[in-house]
Amino acid sequence: MAKSTVLTSIFSFTLTLFLFCTFTAAKSSSFHRTMSPTSLGLQREKLSHLHFYFHDIVSGPKPTAVRVAEARMTNTSSTSFGFVAMCDDPLTVGPEPGSKLVGKAQGIYGSAAQDDTGLLMVMNLAFTEGKYNGSTLSLLGRNMVFSAVREMPIVGGSGAFRFARGYALAKTHTFDFKTGDAVVEYNVYVFHY
Ligand SMILES: *[C@@H]1O[C@H](CO)[C@@H](O)[C@H](O)[C@H]1NC(C)=O
Ligand SMILES: *[C@@H]1O[C@H](CO)[C@@H](O)[C@H](O)[C@H]1NC(C)=O
Repeated sequence: MAKSTVLTSIFSFTLTLFLFCTFTAAKSSSFHRTMSPTSLGLQREKLSHLHFYFHDIVSGPKPTAVRVAEARMTNTSSTSFGFVAMCDDPLTVGPEPGSKLVGKAQGIYGSAAQDDTGLLMVMNLAFTEGKYNGSTLSLLGRNMVFSAVREMPIVGGSGAFRFARGYALAKTHTFDFKTGDAVVEYNVYVFHY
C-alpha cells in the first residue's frame, strides 16, 4: 500500500515537473501567441461595397499612367506583351473627369498575355475621402481589358480595411482607341472589420 502511494507521488511529481518545464520552455522561446480578436478592437466582420470610377490617362501633358519599361518585342506584339506602366490614377464618384475625387489607384500594370490583351494589375487603392481617408485596399489580379466585366481579387488592406479580402468588378465606361485613355467603373466588395 505505502509503496504504491510513494510511486503515485513520484509519478505525479514527475508529471508536474515535465508540464512545468514544457510550459516554461514554450513561453520563453516563443515568438508567437494566440490572441483574441477583440484585444485588437476587432468586433464583427462586415461587408462593404465601394463604387467609383478609375481614370487611366496615358495621353496629353499630364498623364496619370506612364510606361516605364518594355521588351524588345513589345512593339511587334499584338498585345503589347512585356510593357509595364506605373499609375497614379484618380478614383472619382462619377465618370466625368471633374467628378469628386475619393482616392487614387497607385501601382503597376503590364501586359502579361500574348494571345489576348490581358494585364497583370498590382495596385493599392488609396482612399482620401470620408471614413476611409488614409485607408487602402490592395488589388492583385488579371485584367482582360476587352472583356465586359473583369474580376480581380482584393488581397488585403490597411487602416479601416485591415484584414480585408474580397473582389473588384471592373467594367470599361469609356475607352478612346486613339489616345488609349480609359475610364473604368469599379464595384468593390470587401469583408473587413
Ligand atoms: C520597336 O522599338 C524599338 C526600340 O525599343 C525600335 O528600335 C523599333 O524601331 C520599334 N519597332 C517598331 C515596329 O515600331
Ligand atoms: C484626409 O486625411 C488627411 C491627413 O490626415 C487630411 O489632410 C485631409 O484633409 C483628409 N481629407 C478629407 C477629405 O477628409
